[in-house]
Amino acid sequence: MKHFLSMKDVSEYEIQQLVKRTEDMMLGRKEMVHPTTPVFVANLFFEPSTRTKMSFTIAEQRLGLKPLDFQPEVSSVQKGETVYDTAKTLEAIGASLLVIRHPEDHVVQQVASKMSIPVINAGDGTGEHPTQSLLDLVTIYQEFRRFHGLKVAIVGDVKHSRVARSNAYALSTLGAKVYFSSKPEWQDQTLDFPYLDIDEVVETCDVVMLLRIQHERHDQRQSFEQTEYLLNYGLTVEREKRMKPHAIILHPAPVNRGVEIDDCLVECERSRIFKQMTNGVYARMAVMSNLLEDWGIHNEYQASE
Ligand code: CP
Repeated sequence: MKHFLSMKDVSEYEIQQLVKRTEDMMLGRKEMVHPTTPVFVANLFFEPSTRTKMSFTIAEQRLGLKPLDFQPEVSSVQKGETVYDTAKTLEAIGASLLVIRHPEDHVVQQVASKMSIPVINAGDGTGEHPTQSLLDLVTIYQEFRRFHGLKVAIVGDVKHSRVARSNAYALSTLGAKVYFSSKPEWQDQTLDFPYLDIDEVVETCDVVMLLRIQHERHDQRQSFEQTEYLLNYGLTVEREKRMKPHAIILHPAPVNRGVEIDDCLVECERSRIFKQMTNGVYARMAVMSNLLEDWGIHNEYQASE
C-alpha cells in the first residue's frame, strides 16, 4: 500500500490481510520491534475527534513510534497556512507518516498525491473514513468469522456519512449484502445499494450499524423532534427485540443517545459499540505497520509465540 485513503482502492485480499494483521496485533501474535532511531508520525486533525485521534496516538506509542500532536487553533493555520503546506512542513522536518482528518471531501487525497511519505485518511468530510471501516470489519469478523453472505444494514444519516461510504464499499468487496435505511432526504442516490424500511432491516440483518445525525455537514441545521426521529427511523427497544438472535449492533460513535438509538441499547448485550473502539487501536496499528513496511521505513517484526 502507498497510502490508506479509501476502501474503494483496497482489494478483497488486502482487506483480509489487514483484518488478519489486526487480529495478530490484538492477540500479540506479531509485534513490531520498536525502531532504534525515532520514527515520527504527525497527527494532523483539522476537525474535532476523540476516538480516532486518541486511538492513533495509542497505536503509535504501542508500535514504538513518536506521535507529533498538532492543534490547528494554535498553529500557523491561524496565519493562513494551507493544509498542503502544513503537511509538506511536517514531511520536511522529519515526519515519516501523516494521519490527516479534514472537514472537506478529497483534501486528504489531494495532499497525499504530492507527498513522499505515506498518508492515512482519518476522515475527510462526507468522503471516507477507511480506518473506521477496518475496525468495523474486524468487529464483524470477530463475531461471524466470515463476511460473504452476511446482511449488514447501515441506518441513519447516510448522505452525510463517510463511515457509511467506506463500509458499503468494503463490505460489498467482501461479498456481504449491504442495505441502507434512512429518512428519505438523507438517502444518497450516488451509492448503488437498496434502501429498506427500518422495520424490515431489524428483522432480516445480521449487523445493524447506526449512524449519528451529522448536523455539522448539513447545509442548514434542521430542527426535529428527537423522540419522533427515534420512533420513525431509529433503533428502539421494541425493534431490538425483533432482531435475529445472533444479530449485533454497531455504531461508529459519538452516539447521540435517545436520537438514533435508545439510550439503554448503547451498552446492551448485542451492542459492540465499545468493542469497536477497542478494536480501533489494533486496526490502526495494523494499517500503520503495513504502510511503514511497504515503504521500507521500518519493517522489523517478530512472532511473539
Ligand atoms: N468514530 C469517529 O471517527 O469518532 P471521532 O470523531 O471521535 O474520532
